[in-house]
Parts: sequence; structure tokens; C-alpha cells
Amino acid sequence: MAGRVEGKVAFITGAAHGQGRSHAIRLAQEGADIIAVDLCQDYDTVGYPMGTEEELDQTVKSVEALDRRAVKVVADVRDPNALKAAFETGIAELGHVDVICANAGIAAYATEQTRQHYIDVLNVNLVGVINTVMAGLPHLPRGGSIIVTGSLAALLKGGLGSGSAYTLAKRSLVPFVQTTAAAVANEMIRVNGVHPTNCNTNLLQNDDLYKLFRPDLENPTKEDATPAFMTLQQMPVPWIEPEDISEMVLFLASDASRYVTGQFIAVDAGGTLKTLE
Ligand SMILES: NC(=O)c1ccc[n+]([C@@H]2O[C@H](COP(=O)([O-])OP(=O)(O)OC[C@H]3O[C@@H](n4cnc5c(N)ncnc54)[C@H](O)[C@@H]3O)[C@@H](O)[C@H]2O)c1
Repeated sequence: MAGRVEGKVAFITGAAHGQGRSHAIRLAQEGADIIAVDLCQDYDTVGYPMGTEEELDQTVKSVEALDRRAVKVVADVRDPNALKAAFETGIAELGHVDVICANAGIAAYATEQTRQHYIDVLNVNLVGVINTVMAGLPHLPRGGSIIVTGSLAALLKGGLGSGSAYTLAKRSLVPFVQTTAAAVANEMIRVNGVHPTNCNTNLLQNDDLYKLFRPDLENPTKEDATPAFMTLQQMPVPWIEPEDISEMVLFLASDASRYVTGQFIAVDAGGTLKTLE
């Protein structure tokens, strides 16, 4: 039986580990070839490790182990020229691109958000997404699909306090997806987003996030933070797994979603229900 994205090529940013790697593997399982892009470098403002080149190599190996092809590109989503070149490299090897996952993102949490926190987070999480979409759009055929990664943080009324730059960036992705979807609908290209809740990756599992959720403790551990993480979801879980987001990404990448566009879909264990309280 043909896979759900058989013959498609997906361009994925932030593919070295976490959700991006999971998307690469899930789409490859369903027949896609992958252009795997990552910065592979840490930030001064971010208190947890980014992906490494070895991890990006591992993503490529995992895709190849599924008998699909993968092209590795080290590139920064803040650099539009690097992204343009990444699309050209990927297309030169794989022939075309049908799906874009603008997934790369950072969380620079700090009790006092400095100008540099804002610059880094907005440049990666907002401008980086815009750069990715703009560089890729000219290559997409009819039936192409763009999937942007937002966050439940975009929907929380007060935002996430010390993550105000993050909330601002993620909120801004909603009108970006809507206006871009409207602009390209005539070409039968879809633009959607996913809003993950707490997801079990480096972005969540680090001391800054433990502190954000347990401000009452000096040096909270994962065990301290776990019950607090649970308060974000209506379902009694502290976080979901990257594979849970990949299932929604697979649907949005596949032709099964051919008339879904301009939508942000929450994969949040009921987190959005809490905003209605
Ligand atoms: N983990 C969560 O709890 C959570 C919740 C909601 C939304 N998100 C969003 O999900 C997306 C994926 O995050 P994750 O949870 O997999 O985190 P992660 O830190 O595990 O992975 C992020 C990846 O993006 C890469 N990256 C960072 N800056 C880059 C740049 N400038 N150019 C290219 N690549 C870059 C990193 O190297 C890393 O491999 C992000 O947009 C994040 O904001 C995460």
C-alpha cells in the first residue's frame, strides 16, 4: 500500500532532534524524502542545547534506514540567503519540494527579558518562519503544503510571563499563516499551523523551564516541575511526545488535508479548553 505522503519531498527546519527529527522520520515512514535543515549551534540567551551536526547526521541516517532519501543542510533560518540555498541544494538532489515544515524555534526564558532575548526569539521564531516560507513558496507545486509550528503559549491569555518574547512571536504566526494561506489559495497551496502543548524535548526539559513552572523553588528538578507541567493540559499528562505532533504534521502534509488551509490546530491534550475557563 502506498504511503500517505509517497513521492513527496519535505523540507524541515530544526531537524537535528526533537520534533523536527520526529517529523522527518514519520514522513519518511509514509514515503517522503527529506531535506533536513538545522543551525547546529547554541545561543547565549538560550539555556539548553540546540541540535548538533552529529544529531542532524543521525536524522539523515534514520530516514535512509527507511529506504528514503535525505539531504542534510546546516543553515540558519535567520538568514534568507542560506535558506534559499538550502532549497536549491535539496531540490538539486531530490527533484522537487512539496511540503515545508517551518519548525525551528527557541525558548529564551529569563525573569528579565532583555532586548537580546527579544531579538533572538523574534528572529528565529517569527522572522525565521517567514524566511523559510518565503524561500520555499516559489518552489511549491499545486497541492503543496506549508506547516508552521506555533505553540499553546500563543493562546494563553496572559502569555507565559518570563517567556513574553516567545508568546509574542508565536501569537504573530497566527495572522501570518492566515494571510499567507489566503494569498496562495488560488494556487491550491495550503498553509496551516500546529500548536503543541508541553512536548518532551530539550525545549521543555531544562532548568529554565523547571524554574518557570516552579518559581517557588530555588533549583527545581524535573520531578518538582512535572506536577506543575500537568496544570497546562486538561488531560492528566505533564507533556506529550514529539510523535504526537508528527501525526498532525503528517495529516497536514498529506492530500487527506487538501481542503484544510489557514488553520492552526492544537495538539494539546485539552490545553486550549483551559483557556475557556
Ligand atoms: N517542546 C515544547 O514544549 C514546545 C511546545 C510548543 C511549541 N514548541 C515549538 O516546537 C518547535 C520545535 O521545538 P522542539 O520542542 O523540537 O525543540 P528542540 O530544542 O528540541 O528543537 C529545536 C531545533 O531547532 C533548531 N534551531 C534553533 N535555531 C535554529 C535556527 N536559527 N536555524 C535552524 N535551526 C534552528 C535547534 O538546533 C533544534 O534542533 C519550536 O518551534 C518550538 O517553539 C515546542
